Amino acid sequence: MSWITNFLTSSIGRKLIMSLTGLFLIQFLLVHLIGNLQLLVDDGGEKFNLYAQFMTTNPIIKATSILLYSGIVLHIIQGLLIWKQNSGSRNTRYAVSKNPNVDFASKNMGWLGTIILVFLILHLWQFWFKMKFGTMDMIPYEGVEVKNLYALVAATFKNPFYVIAYVIGMIVVGLHLKHGFQSSFQTLGLNHKKYTPLIKGLGSIYSILVPLGFAIIPIYFYFFR
Ligand code: HEM
Repeated sequence: MSWITNFLTSSIGRKLIMSLTGLFLIQFLLVHLIGNLQLLVDDGGEKFNLYAQFMTTNPIIKATSILLYSGIVLHIIQGLLIWKQNSGSRNTRYAVSKNPNVDFASKNMGWLGTIILVFLILHLWQFWFKMKFGTMDMIPYEGVEVKNLYALVAATFKNPFYVIAYVIGMIVVGLHLKHGFQSSFQTLGLNHKKYTPLIKGLGSIYSILVPLGFAIIPIYFYFFR
């Protein structure tokens, strides 16, 4: 077993974990966005509340959630270790900062990730924690009482502080994704004359559209609900 531990703690092993957990979180974000866009349906929250009820009670989804939490924790721990390792070995900072091909996002992945972690703690406390452990308003649909998560989201985004925090959070998520998307494919060895520009293009589109989709939600609730 020790070769596995050796591999996973080697720098290539660490990068591999970052890339696989990163790709897993990238697909989670898309699924999460599609689910959350139901908040924009003008039905008083019925569709969204029924969806949230399903997502938090279905045993298969609950099992997948454990995979999600593990993926997030692993990504954070490995990210911090790689960040520490890189900043420790980078006494020769000029080599990086003077390279015009190294963009802002790739130079600052550690800081961007840290801001996302702060956002995530705030976000999980606001919705996930309150939904799981807090006392929630209930609403009946065809005789079945369901937690009114829609009302919690709507009330949260009436506060301009949270709207601004979410919009800033999404700009940071976009920058983190911009580098992370193509970098995870590169780590997996998918370097190809034809496909690399395609992956980069797809990464750029993804890192704009997904954060934009999320950012629209608080803005919509603040101005139009
Ligand atoms: C406007 C943007 C967003 C809204 C309205 C929103 C809404 C919610 C709500 C209502 C929940 C609790 C119910 C559930 O588990 O599905 C939740 C959970 C969660 N959100 Fe978000 N979210 C947003 C953006 C994000 C972003 C950008 C991330 C990641 C960076 C994220 C990560 C998570 C995670 C990890 C959970 C826990 C999921 C689980 O327990 O399975 N969310 N979100």
